[in-house]
Amino acid sequence: MSEVVRFTVSLEADLLERFDAYCQEGQFATRSEAIRQLLRESLTTQAWSDDAKDAVATLTLVYDHHKGSLSDRLRDIQHDHVNVVVSSMHVHLDHHHCLEVIILRGRAAELQDLASKLRGLKGIHGGRLVVASAD
Ligand code: NI
Repeated sequence: MSEVVRFTVSLEADLLERFDAYCQEGQFATRSEAIRQLLRESLTTQAWSDDAKDAVATLTLVYDHHKGSLSDRLRDIQHDHVNVVVSSMHVHLDHHHCLEVIILRGRAAELQDLASKLRGLKGIHGGRLVVASAD
């Protein structure tokens, strides 16, 4: 980890009040901790928007495995992208529903493309792509 540097920030009193409420709600130990996290998230999002950057992300899907050939399609598409699918976890939620968390690593553009393909399949109830890190 690099050296910690102190710097001064000027902002409006009402914005600071809202920020302090945010820190309290998020149970951040200090304002600095909250700012560090916000900055990292913001920089990760910015890097993620650059398609050429490498990224790590999770795709969480909830679906009905009785729907047509959905389970087969999900498996086939993942097999077609073995270069970016690192791992996946499958949980049988109830008689119909499955939860699948897929960990992806690769070029941001390819991860987004794969996530769109999987999320877009018929029978998927929800799909959320979360970027864990991007260079
Ligand atoms: Ni299942």
